Amino acid sequence: MSLKCAIELGIPDTIYNYGQPMPLSNLIDSLKIHPSKTSFIHRLMRILIHSDFFATEKVADKYLEEVGYVLTDSSMLLLKDNPFSIRPFLLVTLDPILTNPWHKLSTWFQDDNPTPFETKHGIMFWKYAGHVPKLNELFNDAMANDARLVSELLLDEKCKGVFEGLESLVDVGGGTGTFAKAIAKSFPQLECTALDLPHVIAGLEESENLKYVGGDMFDVIPPSDVILLKVI
Ligand SMILES: C[S@@+](CC[C@H](N)C(=O)[O-])C[C@H]1O[C@@H](n2cnc3c(N)ncnc32)[C@H](O)[C@@H]1O
Repeated sequence: MSLKCAIELGIPDTIYNYGQPMPLSNLIDSLKIHPSKTSFIHRLMRILIHSDFFATEKVADKYLEEVGYVLTDSSMLLLKDNPFSIRPFLLVTLDPILTNPWHKLSTWFQDDNPTPFETKHGIMFWKYAGHVPKLNELFNDAMANDARLVSELLLDEKCKGVFEGLESLVDVGGGTGTFAKAIAKSFPQLECTALDLPHVIAGLEESENLKYVGGDMFDVIPPSDVILLKVI
């Protein structure tokens, strides 16, 4: 919740935009918080430093003993404009729709629901997302961010050999196709398909070697050389 709070207050971007170690007083001045809450920013930052989301460094002025906040590798991934930002992933994971089920964990042990999500909401997550467009959008966006990060690593020179020589590939539960799209771009001869539930792939644009199939993976998976499963 501290992490969610820091993201919602825009702390990672504020520190990044400051361009040098940011003293506590400057951070407080830059945030839109109530004057009665200023003393709590130090406490919020302390726990996030402990979790390695931020660090402190001495400020540039050599006459001052003061330290300022800096980002770490982890918080670089929280910046809004970082193409590999995991901000949407964290915000959806920490949304009450997904955190409330954990308050039902003991009930889940006593009922016959397959997941705490179903104990709380009465239907499985994927169906719920199909009925709530905002959640569908947030979740797909979160997955797309993760797929961008992972495909960048997987398709670099050291790893991309695993796809060489293939003629067809289907990304099962491939979300909005970010991963399949990246593979299709790197391997123009490879026929790529992203299979996902109809509400996830609705309206997406296909390309020469990337197509979308809306359906249930437990019913049918289009035949192909390779089945890709990422975070399934
Ligand atoms: C955790 S996400 C992973 C998305 C993508 N593979 C990635 O890593 O970015 C799981 C995906 O499986 C899809 N999914 C869930 N049940 C499915 C089913 N029965 N058939 C096809 N896709 C399904 C969801 O809609 C979602 O896009």
